[in-house]
Amino acid sequence: MASAPAFVSYDPQSVDTELADIQSYSQHVNPIWVRLLDVLGMNLQYTHCSGAELYTQDGRTILDCLSGYCVHNVGHNHPHVVSELVAELQSQSPAMLQSNVVTEAGALARALCEHAGGKLSKVFFCSSGSEGVETVIKFARAHTGRNDIVYASGAFHGLTCGALSLMGSDFWRESFGPMLAGTHEVPFGEIKPLEKLLANRKIAAVVLEPIQAEAGIVVPPPGYLAAVQKLCRQHNTLFVLDEVQTGMGRTGRFLASQRYGVEPDMVVMAKALSGGLVPCAAVLMTDPIYKSVFHSLRRAFIHTSTFSENSLAMRAGLATIQVLDHEHLIERGDRMGIELRNRLRTALADFEMVKEVRGEGMLTGIEFQPPRKLSARVSYEAFKAIHPGLFGQILVMRLFQDKNILTQICGNNFMVLKVAPPLTVSEAQLDHIIKSIREVVHTIHSSSTFWTDALKLAQRALSH
Ligand SMILES: Cc1ncc(COP(=O)(O)O)c(C=O)c1O
Repeated sequence: MASAPAFVSYDPQSVDTELADIQSYSQHVNPIWVRLLDVLGMNLQYTHCSGAELYTQDGRTILDCLSGYCVHNVGHNHPHVVSELVAELQSQSPAMLQSNVVTEAGALARALCEHAGGKLSKVFFCSSGSEGVETVIKFARAHTGRNDIVYASGAFHGLTCGALSLMGSDFWRESFGPMLAGTHEVPFGEIKPLEKLLANRKIAAVVLEPIQAEAGIVVPPPGYLAAVQKLCRQHNTLFVLDEVQTGMGRTGRFLASQRYGVEPDMVVMAKALSGGLVPCAAVLMTDPIYKSVFHSLRRAFIHTSTFSENSLAMRAGLATIQVLDHEHLIERGDRMGIELRNRLRTALADFEMVKEVRGEGMLTGIEFQPPRKLSARVSYEAFKAIHPGLFGQILVMRLFQDKNILTQICGNNFMVLKVAPPLTVSEAQLDHIIKSIREVVHTIHSSSTFWTDALKLAQRALSH
């Protein structure tokens, strides 16, 4: 009897596979993304990643200051998270039965509630931040019997229709048709407009990021979140924090809400929750909110999703929390983040285009402003007219190409450079980040190359 053909293992490092699969990616996934990476000179092949470092096929070592948009808090491929995932796969455990109690989900939920503290005692698991925000919308409506939701200007909550309804940006919404009715935008950091809205007693929830990440690492004014919470309590409106980027120790506390002394009724977590290796999200909430949705056997499945409590994600979440605790990464990130910002402020003090360095923990934003010097101002305005993000993108490109540092500008504020390395970043790596940013900012202020590069980039983008 002829034996069955052997399975061929996928080898991403094989040159043939790689070229063919990049073409396949362009053909079948997203050609525009490939073009954009080409234009920016960022279309590299990575062989492996470890801690805060990314290793490329052509021998470069790149320092990751993006962390996959705050996914890699414990560093890339943390050995403990990897070994827990391998153990889970090799255990032949009952995965995705959909008809058993997933014990790992119980363990992770307990760990999350213990770390969050306060009255957050129930957890709904799902697979993405957006799905977490959808959960918040449904649970807030069920609990309050009201439909309307308030969100803040500049917010980023995800790109599913419900989450997108809590984002005012025309850029993200354009061409996708009508969003949820009954959503209201208020300025982040201002209480009066919120007070007026809540007084109508139609608002189910106020959904905010405690520190707005994509809006430009916007830190709340002192007392703001506590004042929002107080108002919400007065009007029986739920106070919800989206900690998808700020959670899991990113801002120097397990949750940013702990930094500001508030106790939200629901918290959304995702991204770093499972060590950057498996999709996982969680909505932490109070018991009464949970019971508003799950209150009878008939409704035991009323809100769920297929992969929500998958044991790989649960085990990765548990391992990630263990790493945060065992390596004291939250305290470390808090301390080193303060040092990073202080040193950046000093290093960038002489440059007129640097407006502010701000943030908490290992989440830092450097805000730029238009130059005053006439020659630079003319170039700056010309590039802004081509695309408002061009200036920031060239900054990102220069840091990547000249200094081997991966960063990004904020999605809703192109004048803010985000510096968010893994919490495991070393002192030597911080030195390199600070020195490199200073040198690139110096080039912007002292040489015309930066601006001529911008022109070349714009030309390349237009000719593609
Ligand atoms: C604050 C915040 N909320 C929600 C989301 C959406 O998360 P996801 O991309 O996992 O759906 C993001 C994504 O960047 C985010 O930054």
